[in-house]
Parts: sequence; C-alpha cells; structure tokens
Amino acid sequence: MALYQTLRWLGDAATGNLLLIDQTLLPGRYEEISCQTQEQLWEAIRSLRVRGAPAIGVAAAYGVVTGTQQFRDASPQKFRDAVRDVCQYLATSRPTAVNLFWALNRMQTSCDAMPSTHPATFLHDQLLEQARCIDQEDKDMCLAIGRHGNELLRSGMSLLTHCNAGGLATAGDGTALAPIFAAAAAGKAIHVFADETRPLLQGARLTAWELQQRAIPVTLICDNMAGQVMREGRVDLVITGADRIAANGDAANKIGTYSVAVLARHHNIPFCIAAPSSTFDLSLDSGAGIPIEQRPASEITDGFGRTTAPSGVDVYNPAFDVTPAELITALITEHGVIHHPTRELIRQHLAQASPGMA
Ligand code: MRU
Repeated sequence: MALYQTLRWLGDAATGNLLLIDQTLLPGRYEEISCQTQEQLWEAIRSLRVRGAPAIGVAAAYGVVTGTQQFRDASPQKFRDAVRDVCQYLATSRPTAVNLFWALNRMQTSCDAMPSTHPATFLHDQLLEQARCIDQEDKDMCLAIGRHGNELLRSGMSLLTHCNAGGLATAGDGTALAPIFAAAAAGKAIHVFADETRPLLQGARLTAWELQQRAIPVTLICDNMAGQVMREGRVDLVITGADRIAANGDAANKIGTYSVAVLARHHNIPFCIAAPSSTFDLSLDSGAGIPIEQRPASEITDGFGRTTAPSGVDVYNPAFDVTPAELITALITEHGVIHHPTRELIRQHLAQASPGMA
C-alpha cells in the first residue's frame, strides 16, 4: 500500500477535481495541487509536476473529465465535440510516453461507444467511471508487476535503477520499484543504487525519497558513477521503467537508460525493464519510430535556480533514449516475464494476456 497518493480525484463528475502531488517540489516540500482546468493539467504534465508514463496516462484520463465539465449541460453532440477537443489538446502535452495516448484513446473510445441519444450529463458521469477504471487498472498492474518481478529477486541483491519508476510515476506502487517493494514486503533484503538522473534529478529527488519512505536501503550515485559501481561488483541487476516499447522490444526510457544498459551488458549484469501492457506500442516496428521529447536548454544550463553553463552555449537536451531489445534481459509486465524479448515473444505474451491486442 502506497504511503502517498500521486493523484486522486475528489468529488463527482460535475464539480470534482484532480489532486496531484507537485513532484517538482519534492523532496523538499510535499504539496498537492488541484487541477481544475484542462490548461492546468496540460501545464502540470508539461512541467513534470505529474510525470512517469502510467501516471501521465491516468492524469490525462481524469483531465478529460475536468476539461468537459463546462459542457455537462450542452447538447450530446456539443459534449462529444468537447471530448474530442480536450483529448486532442491533452495529447500535445508530452510526446514520448505512449500511456498518454493510450489513456486518451480509451476515454475517446468509451465516449464514442455510448448511444447518441444519451444526454451529456450521462456521458460525463460515464467518463469519470472510465477514468476511475483506468486508475484502478493501473494500481492492479503495478501489483502484478511487483509479484512477477519479485520472483527474479533474491535476498541480499543490490539493484541499480535510473530515473523514477516508483509509485510517483504511476497511480499505484510503480513499475521498476514495484518488485523491490514486493521483495521487501516478503522479507528479502534488497539494496538499491539510484542514479541521480540528470538533468531533472528524478532519481535523486523522487526515487531516493520513495525508497526512504519505505525504509529500503538506497545509495544515491551520479549518473556517471554507474560504470565504476558495476566494475566494483556492487550491482547484481539493473531494473528501470519504460515510456514506450516498440513491437520488437526496443524500449524508450529516461535519457541515460541506454548508457546504463550498455554498461550492464559489458559487466554481464542482467538489465530488466518493468512496464505495463499500456506502455507497448505495437504500431511501431522498432524503437526508431519512437518520438523523443526535446526539452528546454535551461534545464541543463540553469537547473534548480543556479546557472551552471556560460550564457548562449549550444545545448542538446533529449529527454529520452532508446535501449535496443538485444540489451534487455527481461521485460516484466503485469502478465509475467518475457525473457530475452523478441518480436515473436512479445506478440505471444500480449496476445495471450489480452486477445486482440497483438
Ligand atoms: O520525464 P519523466 O520523469 O516523465 O520520465 C519518466 C521515466 O522515464 C520513467 O522511467 C518511465 O516513465 C516509466 S514510469 C513507471
């Protein structure tokens, strides 16, 4: 059970609103913000107040409810038009995490599937139910990933993770951190090295904080220390989350993940990715088609209120990179573990779990 709730809907469809932990303030301040308009939610996603692929998807689903509140008394057609507009608008907030588009598509499809004679109030109430359903499924997926991933962990292991794929990145217990939480709950002694994760420090600010909250031993390292720590024989397994996994298993995750995967291969350390089925994008043949978000230069030159680079310097700031499938030892989903993932194994895994998906 999470000690903090990344996001929660308060109230009914007509007047309720979405509360989010403002993750830009952690670990110094724990504060919730209220998103009462689609613009507020768009800004919260863009500026990483709410972040992590599954959490972005769940937040966007509730955002469709918020964004259409003013159309509750409109005609059914006007309401449906508003749903389409809000979905299109929220889809522009960030490009890489496919869970955003997956959740918006679910909201749109559920609206489209309702009989055209139903009044807007009914449609709107049903959309809140759909958002709650996506929220609950996400919590369940995290628990299932935790159970499956736990089977790969032995007491005494030391893991390395990159960015934050914990409870803060989902509606539930996280993806990459869920197996660690499950292992700890089962009495296994697990130690974690958390990469600080330049430039926005999700590892230092969020992962280290979450692990401390759960009393799991964590050692913070700068990203450029991972190789040395592996060379010293101090890492038994690497586990990260993902923002989008292509049909062949190539996986986009926070910038720096690819470097960690290369290092892990060099040191013969298993490299695992934990992600729900909503993170797979089977429409993409390989990782080459995954859109990589480009973020402002100021995140590198003026991070956290201090100027650390000369004015006017040229900066490149891709927020994600793609780890090729051949570097991934295992993909952990809510349905089980895909060892040495290939296009065919992924297809079979997803088809068995949810016929019609693959
Ligand atoms: O830019 P962020 O903080 O949204 O990036 C998050 C990550 O890269 C996570 O590892 C990924 O979304 C998986 S979260 C379960």
